[in-house]
Amino acid sequence: MKETILVTGGTGFIGSHTSVALLDAGYEVIVVDNLSNSDAGVIQRIEQICSRGPRFIEGDVRDSDLLTSIFSEFAVVAVVHFAGLKAVGESVQKPLEYYQNNVGGSLKLFKVMQTAGVKTIVFSSSATVYGDPAQLPITESFPLSATNPYGATKLVIENILADLYRADEEWRIARLRYFNPVGAHESALIGENPKGVPDNLMPYISQTAAGIRKELSVFGDDYKTPDGTGIRDYIHVVDLASGHVAALDYLQRNDQMLTVNLGTGNGVSVLEMINTFESTNSCKVPYRIAKRRAGDIARCWADTSLANRLLEWEATRTLEDMCRDTWRWQNS
Ligand code: NAD
Ligand code: UD1
Repeated sequence: MKETILVTGGTGFIGSHTSVALLDAGYEVIVVDNLSNSDAGVIQRIEQICSRGPRFIEGDVRDSDLLTSIFSEFAVVAVVHFAGLKAVGESVQKPLEYYQNNVGGSLKLFKVMQTAGVKTIVFSSSATVYGDPAQLPITESFPLSATNPYGATKLVIENILADLYRADEEWRIARLRYFNPVGAHESALIGENPKGVPDNLMPYISQTAAGIRKELSVFGDDYKTPDGTGIRDYIHVVDLASGHVAALDYLQRNDQMLTVNLGTGNGVSVLEMINTFESTNSCKVPYRIAKRRAGDIARCWADTSLANRLLEWEATRTLEDMCRDTWRWQNS
């Protein structure tokens, strides 16, 4: 039996898939989540997939007493920290909530970890920290910038972790910069369940194909890209989840701070995504060309060679897998 990992935000989209990957790798998992953007039913679904489940504690990472009690009751060896708010537009409207939850929650968590002597952490960062990249593909050494409060919280937390490592090299830290996570577990038992109207492309496509939304707006067809629409590096959430297990394995072998991109290295345009979704799933995605969305960049994809080399990890699932699994989840 392997050690116990605390997963904050473990009932959310990426956290639930990572909990499955950790259980499959033999770890014990404790999930703490305040259910602000997820639902406790996910825990039974994880149990169905893995034949054993995580222990679930409903609560907030800003509650230091709760975190302290978890570290004193269980022999946690590492934390995978997903808990946070993630909607870019909302972060512009409610910056204080974003700083309080994302930065405030992380500070509380890191302090309790330090006091408990648990100094291994995997943190969910984002490709948003690269702002509008001057070149492609994006390597980890590119300049960093934030164009909205959400992105700013990711940068602040990355910096806090770097300072923590500088002050005490016993910390083992992985800062994982995700590109665009999509898809769902192939069982269709867990997936992404956005509340209200989705902001992101993939859930909007699948809800449009299902008839929940009338049509998809393609935000701009006048970018400097082959078909004029925005290009992103979409990664299957199950591949992303296995990247976390690889990062934990790496940290167990090396006392280091690690910063890596998790993506596929391939750029896919909005129109390519719509076409692949339609052909893979034999369905229709009605769409119209709309104005560019404020704040969007034209092109973004990862150089994944560092993750490939250090973590001995690479994304293996195809764009068709992403479309098929999203559709299966939508229909379930
Ligand atoms: P999600 O909203 O599905 O999951 C986050 C979970 O954290 C939710 O279950 C929510 O209830 C919980 N949570 C929020 N604040 C909390 C708090 N204070 N205490 C306890 N639980 C709390 O989001 P996700 O897509 O799974 O993203 C997970 C992490 O990855 C986030 O930190 C996000 O910023 C980061 N990330 C996501 C993406 C993406 O496209 N999904 C891209 C880059 C980075
Ligand atoms: C957005 C966030 C980013 C976050 C990421 C994952 C912004 C500016 N950036 O990235 O910080 O890490 O989500 O949560 O919000 N598109 C459409 N129609 C739609 C929706 C999207 O054409 O209805 C296009 C977009 O213009 C873009 C692509 O699809 O070209 C992907 O968009 P989206 O899924 O929102 O992700 P990002 O903008 O890359």
